[in-house]
Amino acid sequence: MKKDVILWTGAGQIGMAIARRVGYGKKIVVGDKNIGNANAIAKIMNDAGFDVEAFECDISSRESILNLIKKGKEYGEIAMLINSAGVSPSQAPIERILHVDLYGTAVLLEEVGKVIKEGGTGVTISSQSGHRMEQLGAKIDEELATTPTEELLKLDVLQPENIKDTLHAYQLAKRCNEKRVMAESVKWGKKGARINSISPGIIVTPLAIDEFNGIRGDFYKNMFAKCPAGRPGTADEVANVAELLMTDKGAFITGADFLIDGGATASYFYGPLKPENN
Ligand SMILES: NC(=O)c1ccc[n+]([C@@H]2O[C@H](COP(=O)([O-])OP(=O)(O)OC[C@H]3O[C@@H](n4cnc5c(N)ncnc54)[C@H](O)[C@@H]3O)[C@@H](O)[C@H]2O)c1
Repeated sequence: MKKDVILWTGAGQIGMAIARRVGYGKKIVVGDKNIGNANAIAKIMNDAGFDVEAFECDISSRESILNLIKKGKEYGEIAMLINSAGVSPSQAPIERILHVDLYGTAVLLEEVGKVIKEGGTGVTISSQSGHRMEQLGAKIDEELATTPTEELLKLDVLQPENIKDTLHAYQLAKRCNEKRVMAESVKWGKKGARINSISPGIIVTPLAIDEFNGIRGDFYKNMFAKCPAGRPGTADEVANVAELLMTDKGAFITGADFLIDGGATASYFYGPLKPENN
């Protein structure tokens, strides 16, 4: 029997929290570069009554994304996309961050946009980091939004001499995610489908724990201590927003980005996290 299919990339905590909200009754294909992560999370969810299949997929490769889509289509129409694949500034060098978080996300939105069923929905996980970086201006924003995917990494703003460090690369990737979502939402809209992004602050997951233990550990601990919420967030709180965006209650929301960071960005610009106060 054919089922509606969810394509989910990045078998991490944020993705799982979202998949559990919207995944019942659907076939879920979870793609991860690390098949061990995908198998582990598929087992947890299958033991809880979901229908999840693990698949090896590297979102920095178009071919790998197309294989994931092909696998999904074996089970039915593609009804949802959850993109929670990514590498953080402490996990990868600049080039890898740009290939996975920026290019990979852009290709995934493009390819799934071609096959998403009428009324389908998607979310991609961006980051508060994209909000903290200075504005890039209308011209660069438009380049990030609309440059053909295979040309994206050739943009001046993404050349090594213009990128300070891995955090800067991550910020650029996440800013690009927001802009791609805006441009893609126009294409998805022609099929009656919607796509949005969520920009979480610090959410306790293995990726964030790598950051706490990495060279910017004190920076991150200070960030959640001095944000209005005074704590890091949980994947389930991100899923609250995703559920709104991916279900009928969010029917008028598309091409948008939602910041869910306990107020850390607000504090960075106008409160105790302001760089000159730290
Ligand atoms: N945790 C946070 O504090 C936080 C904050 C802001 C944004 N984010 C973003 O949320 C997303 C998910 O993060 P998480 O905290 O759930 O991380 P996580 O480490 O729990 O999961 C990320 C998963 O992505 C997979 N992955 C990495 N590269 C991949 C690739 N090329 N192709 C396919 N899979 C790949 C990893 O193997 C891992 O299983 C990331 O995009 C991250 O940048 C996380």
